[in-house]
Amino acid sequence: MTDQTLLLGQTLSFQGDPFLQPVERAAIHRSRGGVLIEGGRIIATGEGDDLKTAHPGARVVDYGDGLISAGFVDAHVHYPQTAIIASWGKRLIDWLNTYTFPEEMRFDDPDYAATIARRYFDLTRAHGVTTMASYCTIHPASVDAFFSEALRRGQRVVAGKTCMDRNAPEGLRDSAQTAYDDSKALIGRWHGQGRLTYAITPRFSPTSTPDQLAALGALWAEHPDCLMQTHLSEQTDEIAWVRDLYPEARDYLDTYEAHGLLGERGLYGHAIHLEPREKERLKDVGAALIHCPTSNMFIGSGLFDMAGLKQAGQRVGLASDTGGGSSFSMLRTMAAAYEVAQLRHDALHPAQLWWLATQGSAQTLHMGDRIGNLAPGMEADIVVVDLASTPDIAQRAAQADTIWEALFPTIIMGDDRAIAATWINGSPDP
Ligand code: GUN
Ligand code: ZN
Repeated sequence: MTDQTLLLGQTLSFQGDPFLQPVERAAIHRSRGGVLIEGGRIIATGEGDDLKTAHPGARVVDYGDGLISAGFVDAHVHYPQTAIIASWGKRLIDWLNTYTFPEEMRFDDPDYAATIARRYFDLTRAHGVTTMASYCTIHPASVDAFFSEALRRGQRVVAGKTCMDRNAPEGLRDSAQTAYDDSKALIGRWHGQGRLTYAITPRFSPTSTPDQLAALGALWAEHPDCLMQTHLSEQTDEIAWVRDLYPEARDYLDTYEAHGLLGERGLYGHAIHLEPREKERLKDVGAALIHCPTSNMFIGSGLFDMAGLKQAGQRVGLASDTGGGSSFSMLRTMAAAYEVAQLRHDALHPAQLWWLATQGSAQTLHMGDRIGNLAPGMEADIVVVDLASTPDIAQRAAQADTIWEALFPTIIMGDDRAIAATWINGSPDP
C-alpha cells in the first residue's frame, strides 16, 4: 500500500520571475500534467501519463481541464477585520477610528477571537488561499486564537500581535514594555511550532511612540528569524501626520529605520507614496513591499508603481489587506493589480499576476523554497481552478488559443466559484 496521491489536470508552475525573464522561460504549463504528493509534500511533478505509469499504486484524483497551481499566498491581511469588510465612506484614518478600532476592541473576548479566526480560515480556504500573513489585535489572545486554529488545520501562516501605545482608543493601547513582553512571550509560545511563523507587528508609526518602536526593534534584533510587518506610506494625510509626530525623521521609512525596524525580513504594506531615499534603502536591505490593490482603491490610497518598483529590483508581494481590502479573493486581488497598473499605463501579464499571488508573495515571506510553487520537495498546498466556472467566463475562455488567454478571464472575472479544490498540507478536506 502507498499513501501517494496523484493529482491530474493542467498544471502551472514557475522556474523564474516573469517580471525578470520572458514568460515562456519563467512559467511551465502542462496541458495534461501531474502532481504527486505524499505525507504533505510534493514528491514529483511532470507529465500526467508518465507519473501515472511510474507510480501505479498512487490514488488518482483527476481534475480534467482544471488548472492545478500552488495555493495562493496573501502577504498582508487583518483577520480581525473580517466582520467589517466593505464598510462605507471613509478614508484611512477615519476608517480606522470609525470601523476598525471598535471591531478590534471586541477581541478582548477570546471566544469572539476564536469565532472570527474559524470564520476567516473557512472563507479564505474557499478562495484557495493556503498561507497568509495576518495582523491580530493588541490582545495576545487574538494571536492565540489565530495560531491555534492554523495549527489545528495544519496551515502555514504568519501572524503577530498588533502593537499600539498612542493614537488609539482606551482599551486598544498597550505600552512599550507590554508590547515587548507580550510579543516576546508569543514568540516563545508559537514561533516555529508546526508551520507557524511569528511577525513582530507595530501597526504603523502614528500608533506607536518612538519608545515602542525601539522596544520592538530590540525584540527583532533578539529574534532575527522572525518576520516584521507594518504599514508604510499608504495615504498622503497619513504621511503628513507621521511628519508631525516624528519631526526628526528624514521620511516615513526613517521612523522605522531609526528604531531597528528596517530589514530583509521586513514586510512593508502599501508603500505607495515613496521618496527616492526610501526606495533606495528598501532596495539596499532587500525588504519586501506588499501591494494591496483592492484596499488602495477602496480606501482611496493611490496607485502602487508595480512596473517601476519591479524594474528597480524591489521584492514585491501581493495581498488582499482585508478588511480595508474589499475581497478575500486573490483572483479579485490580481484583477485589481491589473487595473491599477493599467491606470499607470502598464499591462501586467497573467503570468506576472499569478506569480505575484503565489511564488512572489511566498518569497516576500522568505518561504519561496517551501510554498508558492509546484516542485518536488515543496509543501503540498495546492489550488485547483476551474477556468470555465461561470457562463460568462466559459464563453470567453472558449475563444482562447493559449493558457494565458484561457486564464485571464478567470483572473478578471473569477471568484470562489472558480476554486474547485484547495489542498492544505496534502489534504483536500477542511
Ligand atoms: N494602517 C494602519 N492600520 C491599518 C489597517 O488596519 N488597514 C490599513 N489598510 N491601513 C492601516
Ligand atoms: Zn494593513
